[in-house]
Amino acid sequence: MPKQNNRKNEHVSLSEKFYDHGQSSFDDVRFVHHSFPQMDVKDVDMSVQLDGLTFHVPFFINAMSGGSRWTGKVNEKLATIARETGLAIATGSVSAALKDPEQEGTFKIVRETNPNGLVFANLGAGHGLENAKRVVDLLQADAMQIHINAPQEIVMPEGDREFSGWIENIQEIVQGLGVPVIAKEVGFGMSRETVQLLESVGVQMIDISGRGGTNFAQIENYRRPEQKLDDLESWGQTTVESLLEAHEVVQSARIIASGGIRRPMEMVKALSMGASLTGLSSQFMHMALEDVDQTIETVHAWKAEIASIMTLLGTKNIADLNKTDLILSGQAADWCAARNISIQKYASRG
Ligand code: FNR
Repeated sequence: MPKQNNRKNEHVSLSEKFYDHGQSSFDDVRFVHHSFPQMDVKDVDMSVQLDGLTFHVPFFINAMSGGSRWTGKVNEKLATIARETGLAIATGSVSAALKDPEQEGTFKIVRETNPNGLVFANLGAGHGLENAKRVVDLLQADAMQIHINAPQEIVMPEGDREFSGWIENIQEIVQGLGVPVIAKEVGFGMSRETVQLLESVGVQMIDISGRGGTNFAQIENYRRPEQKLDDLESWGQTTVESLLEAHEVVQSARIIASGGIRRPMEMVKALSMGASLTGLSSQFMHMALEDVDQTIETVHAWKAEIASIMTLLGTKNIADLNKTDLILSGQAADWCAARNISIQKYASRG
């Protein structure tokens, strides 16, 4: 089996091996409870418009799978969940199919299974406009995710070592592609400086994908036979820290939150911290590998749970969540102090 196929299989199996639903950076974020919601559950509208795309609910299945026979089957399961629940879905990096056309079917299965839903293609920032066009055509994708994953590449012995052209590649893709572009991290988070740089080259959707869930330094170290880079396993900003950073500087771009988001309360907290949409990867992988039908039921239950939480907060739509009062403590508060972000501002927004 070629190395690339092994890698995709190992990423999926190791993400499952390290799957952990314990601590979350969102534990440092609490809502102030006000006793009168002044609305009814039926008043909630949780749909989101982003760069011309309509999302019926504020969460989606983020990039993971494809590139080997097994991960193609996993993509079919994930796409079935997307179709039955109306969720958008991203494939994993389609670069495997550019290198080996035999793998195309392991990505196309997402569009074939889910012909009418929102499907995002995915490539790394080392790719230029021509490859981006090829993968959008292959999947008839509604949007293109470009992943930015320097720490992962560094920990991979076979990883990329040339990052100097990445931002120009992203600019070229944004200007020439013709479908919306999402620039995304892969679990190391973003700084305000990164968000500003992405906005300056025209990116309109930024997934800050922070630390707290899947840890690619841990996964790649596990795959490395020797000279492991253990210290990089704590590299990067948590999802909460990344949202705090982004919120300080973002202008017209829309923020997507991912990284360790596993349940409705974490989604609603992320949406209250300036995100317009939330992406879940390892949580969906974990559920899809266990039972697709059960996952579909869980997604329906999550929609109802989000509506319940939004009602308690007195918020009729996703934008209203930015008026909720949030108490930041622990590491989140330390981060704010160090980076000169006002926690008082978050506590009294209503
Ligand atoms: C990923 N992720 C990912 N991201 C990306 O942009 N392209 C990719 O090919 C992959 N591949 C991939 C495989 C597997 C098995 C996992 C679990 C994840 C990263 C993913 O989209 C997300 O940014 C991080 O995983 C953080 O989210 P979670 O997993 O903590 O919800």
